[in-house]
Amino acid sequence: MVLYRKYRPQKLQDLIGQDHVKKTILAQLESGKTSHAYLFTGPKGTGKTTTARILAKAVNCTANRLTTNAKSKKASLSRSTLDVQQTFSEPCNQCSSCLAILKDANIDVMEIDAASTRGIDDIRNLRESIKLVPVTGRFKVYIVDEAHMLTNEAFNAFLKTLEEPPQHAIFILATTAPEKMPATIVSRCQVFNFFPATHAQITEVLEKIAKAEGRDLDNEFLTKIAAKSEGSYRDAVVLLEKILAQENLDEKTITELLTGVDFEVLTRFAQNLAEKNAKGSIVMLNDLVVQGVPAQVVNSEFTTFLRNLLFVKVGVHNSLDLQADNINALSKLAEKFTQGEILELIRLFEQAAAQKNSPVAQLPTELAIAQFCLPKDKE
Ligand SMILES: Nc1ncnc2c1ncn2[C@@H]1O[C@H](COP(=O)(O)OP(=O)(O)OP(=O)(O)O)[C@@H](O)[C@H]1O
Ligand SMILES: [Mg+2]
Ligand SMILES: [Zn+2]
Repeated sequence: MVLYRKYRPQKLQDLIGQDHVKKTILAQLESGKTSHAYLFTGPKGTGKTTTARILAKAVNCTANRLTTNAKSKKASLSRSTLDVQQTFSEPCNQCSSCLAILKDANIDVMEIDAASTRGIDDIRNLRESIKLVPVTGRFKVYIVDEAHMLTNEAFNAFLKTLEEPPQHAIFILATTAPEKMPATIVSRCQVFNFFPATHAQITEVLEKIAKAEGRDLDNEFLTKIAAKSEGSYRDAVVLLEKILAQENLDEKTITELLTGVDFEVLTRFAQNLAEKNAKGSIVMLNDLVVQGVPAQVVNSEFTTFLRNLLFVKVGVHNSLDLQADNINALSKLAEKFTQGEILELIRLFEQAAAQKNSPVAQLPTELAIAQFCLPKDKE
């Protein structure tokens, strides 16, 4: 099993970070006041689907079904026993309901991936099946991943269901792009924002996994993985898996796996730019893309490289974690640029990195190169 599935947190308390989400949802479970519709927003790999599944397990867990907390038991003495409120807690992960959800085989918990189906048939089915009471559990839980990808038609169909959800229904929508969701849907959901993982949080997750796998990795590498992962726990765990799969865990192999583009290649790329050689730079970019390095990766590697270059140029590189021979190479290279030029390059490449939806993935980077190298039009 791939590591990120193997080590997917199975209880709220196992989630690293996202404290506000954990606290609020646990309080809702313990008071029996769960919502009928949730919207989980936040960047990739931060725990949205994971939390949705934990919640689905918790409300259907048979261990939970039998417990009522002391407070509501007391209250029930003075009221009718019918008032006893169902309360929940963390899922037990051992009862038949929890196990079925773990295996993706619980008929009362449905997961819809809006990105692949765009949803209309699924939503139609959902509107029909939602009317029926749950088969085995207490709640029917619908998890809609990448919810912003639903078509308008699907959203409209869904809205009708959200307006009058049956008592036994819980919807959990998850999205990385909440701004693309219709306001009518968002306003009917309880919204939870998931935060990008900090380096320290990622390191914590990686340490646990490496230990569980019986492997010992230098803290230095874990920190490097964290820096590469852009706030995504999943990306970090995937990178860790790549590294653990290596037979030789020497420093060079790990650095190569983590860098993507060689320092030496980045240096040559920068030299071409220093010479305002647009053609040479674009050809290099193309070669890298052909070798399978995505333009976005070239872009982010090069931006980090430029930042290092700037730090060396202004003499504050002590704070950077750079190898000594790289610092020497950077100092030589820095002589070929003015400070202003380096700043301009950083701005241009950052702008290019922000354009993630270009029909030609490398075009924004090519434009950045052209803009820097070609003489500016004077009007
Ligand atoms: N808060 C967390 N603590 C520990 N591990 C986490 C956390 N969030 C995510 N992970 C790891 O990342 C993997 C992916 O998480 P998950 O599928 O929940 O992300 P997501 O937010 O739904 O991402 P996407 O937007 O890409 O669907 C999990 O299986 C787990 O290994
Ligand atoms: Mg997800
Ligand atoms: Zn259970």
